[in-house]
Amino acid sequence: MKLAVVGGGSTYTPELIDGFARLRDTLPISELVLVDPAADRLELVGGLARRIFAKQGHPGRIVTTSDLDAGVAGADAVLLQLRVGGQAARLQDETWPLECGCVGQETTGAGGLAKALRTVPVVLDIAERVRRANPDAWIIDFTNPVGIVTRALLQAGHKAIGLCNVAIGFQRRFAKLLDVAPSAVHLEHVGLNHLTWERSVRIGGPDGEDMLPKLIAEHGDTIAADLRLPRRVLDTLGVVPSYYLRYFYAHDEVVRELGTKPSRAAEVAEMEKQLLAMYGDPALDEKPELLAKRGGAFYSEAAVDLAASLLGDAGSGGSPVQVVNTYNNGTLPFLADDAVIEVQARVDASGATPLAVPELDPLYAGLVANVTAYEDLALQAALHGGRDRVYKALLSHPLIGQYEYAEGLTDRLIAHNREHLAWA
Ligand code: G6P
Ligand code: MN
Repeated sequence: MKLAVVGGGSTYTPELIDGFARLRDTLPISELVLVDPAADRLELVGGLARRIFAKQGHPGRIVTTSDLDAGVAGADAVLLQLRVGGQAARLQDETWPLECGCVGQETTGAGGLAKALRTVPVVLDIAERVRRANPDAWIIDFTNPVGIVTRALLQAGHKAIGLCNVAIGFQRRFAKLLDVAPSAVHLEHVGLNHLTWERSVRIGGPDGEDMLPKLIAEHGDTIAADLRLPRRVLDTLGVVPSYYLRYFYAHDEVVRELGTKPSRAAEVAEMEKQLLAMYGDPALDEKPELLAKRGGAFYSEAAVDLAASLLGDAGSGGSPVQVVNTYNNGTLPFLADDAVIEVQARVDASGATPLAVPELDPLYAGLVANVTAYEDLALQAALHGGRDRVYKALLSHPLIGQYEYAEGLTDRLIAHNREHLAWA
């Protein structure tokens, strides 16, 4: 089985390699191609990747290349984990929205729109080249904003599925709190990428006992502290929101905080410098501890599980039910069929089919509907460009909404992203 990772020079890659090495029975890879335009990073990351495989006795070959077409040729699945403009662009996304009193974040609000505008055309071009090289290949998208990027891929007819590690993170966290194996924890995870709630936490299977009330009763303080929300908010909701919901439920508080501390982009850029220096050390043959400080924990395990299920017979099979980003197709009846949602789905070689979702409480259905409308407008802006489309997407966003904000943000978004926007 051949896999390609586009954005393979990312400092995240050793996380992925570590997962591929540990879970080789689930996903037997014979060749792994790391594709990245940054040859210097590729050499450092590729070197460490080979040492991790060698240490763990993985027989697979690791190839590095900056030639996308050659790299993806013959791949059964292609993972996308790229960042157009790198951490420098992310720093911008986190900074200029604050000038307008709005949250500066790489996937939520105006920063997320900027990222979508930079990313969608690049990903669509890559996907087209993947399809030309191998029309049967699966595209697994970890590139943010995952909801919008996945929708762009699906609408262009690609064999694509979106992946995020928020759900697997909660699964591991709850398993620890409940003292059970992670695989025994079934989450009823619902919403859009980076806008989700855990509505139940069942043990043993989708019909198992719901432990969420007990979890909140016994560990509510811990969970609320992790989310950096007051315990009373958790108690009122009765469900566990993802940490991205803090940007909504505590927007103004976050804006005040962001004004007083270094940005996440700056922190990550510093970590990346250290990580790359470590990767260059020929004695290092495992993923370094420092990588655990990045947000992508368990990403590799979710990716292996997903690829194993999608590639069917080639692997010994991943979990039959996984949390993915895919077409709504009636699952949430108040959204269009071609909206992309993030829910539990049955995954096999034919793709993902969402499990039925009980009716959503208006408390979160409203936000889901609103952000879906924004994502639709954001995709229009990413595909067709133009100041008006950017402005409308911003105006539609529940964290923006007012024309004065939308105007200020539109000007800044365009000014800071000109080099990445063909139409600007
Ligand atoms: C989580 C999210 C990813 C995001 C990452 C950011 O893993 O699910 O979508 O890219 O956090 O982590 P970072 O370490 O770059 O802040
Ligand atoms: Mn994510």
